Amino acid sequence: MKKYDVLIIGAGIAGLYAAMQLPKSKKVLVVCKDIPWECNTFYAQGGMSTALNEADISVHVEDTMAAGAYHNDKEAVEILSRTSLVTTPDIISQGMEFDTDEEGNILYTKEAAHSTERIVHAGGDATGRYMHYFMMVQNKHQLQKNTLVYDLLIEDGRCYGVKASVNYRPTTIYADDVIIASGGIGSLYAYNTNSRTISADIHGICVEKGIELSDMEFMQFHPTVFVDTPYARKLLLTEALRGEGAHVVDDDGNRFLFEYDNRGELASRDIVARGIFDYKRKTGKNAYLDFSMFEEKWFEHRFPNITRTFGALGYYFPKDKVSISPAFHYANGGIKCDTYGCIEGMEGLYVIGEAARTGVHGANRLASNSLLEGMVFAKRAVDHLLGKEQIVLKTPEFEKDYANILHKDNDKTYKHKLRQVMWDDIGIIRTTQGLHEAKNLIYDMKNREIGRLLELRLNTASAIVDAALARKESLGSHYMES
Ligand code: SIN
Repeated sequence: MKKYDVLIIGAGIAGLYAAMQLPKSKKVLVVCKDIPWECNTFYAQGGMSTALNEADISVHVEDTMAAGAYHNDKEAVEILSRTSLVTTPDIISQGMEFDTDEEGNILYTKEAAHSTERIVHAGGDATGRYMHYFMMVQNKHQLQKNTLVYDLLIEDGRCYGVKASVNYRPTTIYADDVIIASGGIGSLYAYNTNSRTISADIHGICVEKGIELSDMEFMQFHPTVFVDTPYARKLLLTEALRGEGAHVVDDDGNRFLFEYDNRGELASRDIVARGIFDYKRKTGKNAYLDFSMFEEKWFEHRFPNITRTFGALGYYFPKDKVSISPAFHYANGGIKCDTYGCIEGMEGLYVIGEAARTGVHGANRLASNSLLEGMVFAKRAVDHLLGKEQIVLKTPEFEKDYANILHKDNDKTYKHKLRQVMWDDIGIIRTTQGLHEAKNLIYDMKNREIGRLLELRLNTASAIVDAALARKESLGSHYMES
């Protein structure tokens, strides 16, 4: 029987930073569903927030809590901000290069709802890609791709490993400790900015096993996304563009967001996303991101990734404005855990990163707090794991397996139907009637002949719709229209 000390599900920032904290003496396996860079970290553009110094901690905490509609767990937020004074210097000392000025001073930028410039970035607007590459190079443990986890091996409140499809072959992987770092739920939505691998499978397994998901009504929509492409993942236009001074305008050049909040483009993400969605619906006008105030050379240097990507689509930035829509971006809720990633009533199982609900984001995540969250809580989970008493246990037999992991004939049709209903009825603006209709549709699909993976997606979708129905009042990114 093949058994590891630690199995990490996911090779984004949380999974890789957890691996970096584990000594070489441990037998560790990091698995990812596809190729390692198909993860949300890779696509993160704007940057990573970090407290600037001791004095900035209380300000960062307050900005995070205000963006989160004070639904956050304050202790988790304080941990996030305080630990950034350890984790950011840690990766810099190991060779991570954030953008600097000519004298070598780190350049900080600002994004919506931050009261000061405290966001570090790399490669201009390719922060996630640079951080991911840095951590891939640092990783000293075995990394296995094409490993799609479809079950957690749980018995009597303990996790013993997973069942996974490895290069399309059903495989059992045993481990003393399993760390879930599998990201959020992006592929459930028709319009999303996420990697195509992010499809809520592990959340769905948790629903099945009675492991609590929490704050699932708080799904975050990014305000400025270019959605006119045929691909599932839509193109993000980083919040840092607005942080540096880009405007959101309508067909007539009117900066309409001031009708929604006196901070205009720099209001928190939920308000800006809702404002754009509502304005387009109400007026029939389109919304655009306008960069024309920027000098060409500066723009190309500061946002090389966006300049290049949109250049290939025929845009000439910063001269051209670009049509925008909100799109699903980030799950504020997730698998409920404490600030060490421990899950109540469950031994040998941790959760970190976007998959986790520590309470750090409240009802709406503050921009650029997620890369930081990935590192801070990965470190704490590993500290906990290494600090606990190691008990030698006999591994039970797990015989049950699933015949139809990947496909049944209907799956593709239902998957698309689900993505549309999530966008239409469990999206930016919700109604009780729409939520009930979505609930019925999801229930109906669950009772069809479907494959295991679709079943898991539907489990997670049910958890989102149930949480949305349970919260009658609007809060943060959960907005109910009466
Ligand atoms: C962005 O660059 O706008 C995304 C950053 C984030 O989601 O925090």
